[in-house]
Amino acid sequence: PPRPHRLRVNGSERVVTAESDTPLLYLLRNDLALNGPKYGCGLGECGACTVIVDGLAARSCVLPVAMAEGREILTLEGLGAPGRLDPVQQAFIDAEAAQCGYCLNGMIMTVKALLDRDPEVGETQIRNELRFNLCRCGTHVEILQAAMLAAQ
Ligand code: FES
Repeated sequence: PPRPHRLRVNGSERVVTAESDTPLLYLLRNDLALNGPKYGCGLGECGACTVIVDGLAARSCVLPVAMAEGREILTLEGLGAPGRLDPVQQAFIDAEAAQCGYCLNGMIMTVKALLDRDPEVGETQIRNELRFNLCRCGTHVEILQAAMLAAQ
């Protein structure tokens, strides 16, 4: 049966009522109006729904809400500060990495988690980290350039 779940999202305590196996993505988007994370495949395979959980990139479409309780969840909306983009977001703009833009949440959050862990990463690590994030428009070259810019 549905029960309340306490979540820590972008630094705030939020309570959502849901079945314990409800994917976190659904609650972020439908209950908390956090639409940065996108629904792509719903199977953990494309990366569009990526959020950062306790510092690591996580696919929220396959993360049951019960497993997200008590952990620090960061969504695209939590990046940067009022009036100031996160350097990773700025790099994606500067590199003009977007085509349709649907995958960018996942690309940005994955790069953000990587750079927070290791600001000194090189191209090989970035490629490795992004290899399971899919872009249907095929702008992987620009996305890689944006990630490299963010890592400078
Ligand atoms: Fe979650 Fe595709 S929507 S990985």
